[in-house]
Amino acid sequence: MSQFAYHNGVLHAEGVSLSAVAEQFGTPTYVYSKAALLANFAAYADACRGRDALVCYAMKANSNLAILDLLARQGAGFDIVSGGELLRVVAAGGDPRKVIFSGVGKTVDEMRLALDHDILCFNVESIPELHRLNEVAGSMGKRARISLRVNPNVDPKTHPYIATGLKANKFGVAFDDALATYRTAAQLPHLEVTGIDCHIGSQLLDDAPLLEALDRLIELIDTLGAEGIVLHHLDIGGGIGINYGEAGEAPPVAVADYLGRLFAKVDAWRAARHNGAPIKVIFEPGRSIVGNTGVLLTKVEFLKHGEEKNFCVVDAAMNDMMRPALYQAWMDMQAVAPGSKPAQTYDVVGPICESGDWLARDRALAVEQGDLLAMMQAGAYGLTMASNYNTRGRAAEVIVDGDVCHLVRRRETPAELYALESVIK
Ligand code: LLP
Repeated sequence: MSQFAYHNGVLHAEGVSLSAVAEQFGTPTYVYSKAALLANFAAYADACRGRDALVCYAMKANSNLAILDLLARQGAGFDIVSGGELLRVVAAGGDPRKVIFSGVGKTVDEMRLALDHDILCFNVESIPELHRLNEVAGSMGKRARISLRVNPNVDPKTHPYIATGLKANKFGVAFDDALATYRTAAQLPHLEVTGIDCHIGSQLLDDAPLLEALDRLIELIDTLGAEGIVLHHLDIGGGIGINYGEAGEAPPVAVADYLGRLFAKVDAWRAARHNGAPIKVIFEPGRSIVGNTGVLLTKVEFLKHGEEKNFCVVDAAMNDMMRPALYQAWMDMQAVAPGSKPAQTYDVVGPICESGDWLARDRALAVEQGDLLAMMQAGAYGLTMASNYNTRGRAAEVIVDGDVCHLVRRRETPAELYALESVIK
């Protein structure tokens, strides 16, 4: 059930009209539904109930402290890709011992910080990273728990910018090199080899590539086990897509169905070949936790009727939501209070001085100057990818809980944007 619906002709988030949100907090503003967030997390948690499993939310999708806090309280762990993200987990009251650290370029300082917080595991992506981590852990008198991010070379059939498990990608250790890399890791004194992981891509509509990747990981776990390198967890990454509402779009696999198939495979394998030895299963979902929980609320500044196109100029821009400019992503746009005005076809564009600054193209919209639009399914990779281009303060963020609104990030002011700068004396 969507928590974003029209009541009396006005689009609401749960019990609050988006016009009321705009009146109170201005625009552009990201508006999230707490109920939607909890329901998405519950889809994972319910399927994992009674199993040794951990859902490490990939916080790059949306790292607002209030979101992290709500998820932490449901028992979530976190998949991080920087020291900054770890500090956000800590600030939000999350448990660092449920944190896994992904990414190809971890710095010495980030490794130190993560070891200080005793995180669950480093997902190591290369041999030089193994050596660096071994040295850092040694210098601190610690052993770092590691898994190797293995590149299973499975085609996730998604946009090339968000496919990550193919041979040509910068991520992970090639499948064919994994065994040798594990042998190296097992010999490094300050590393404790605990798991294996992969992440093959994002916005996957079908779980077949994920299940294929799982087969490859299982194969490797068995090979390693035969050599005496026993792994305690397997991390299948994130990647389950959401429905962006584009006409003709294939519906994404339901989380519960995917997890059902995945656990069935894991159970069959454990029963047949793994002697029933326990193995923890870790997930790193981002978009499927937050994607459909938020909208980007924006106001129509002008309608501009050109010779070839009509433009709806709004106060949100590519700096607020990069996905269309970056991936030509199709994002649904809805008038908050369409009324009975006739619809016209518009390109929805922002005020930034770039032709790439568009949010939606060729959309039939019933709007007038001053009306509100909501970009739907904007909860993932929205504010986290926002910039201050054109000295635009980033949008405010609001969480709706029933009929109550909580401002969870206020709008940035221009003075804050240049506060760290100075002129040469
Ligand atoms: N784990 C790792 C190691 C990742 O790199 C990612 C996403 C995830 C988990 C979470 O994937 P998800 O469940 O959200 O698909 N900015 C792009 C998406 C980039 C995804 C990057 N990695 C977009 O807006 O479509």
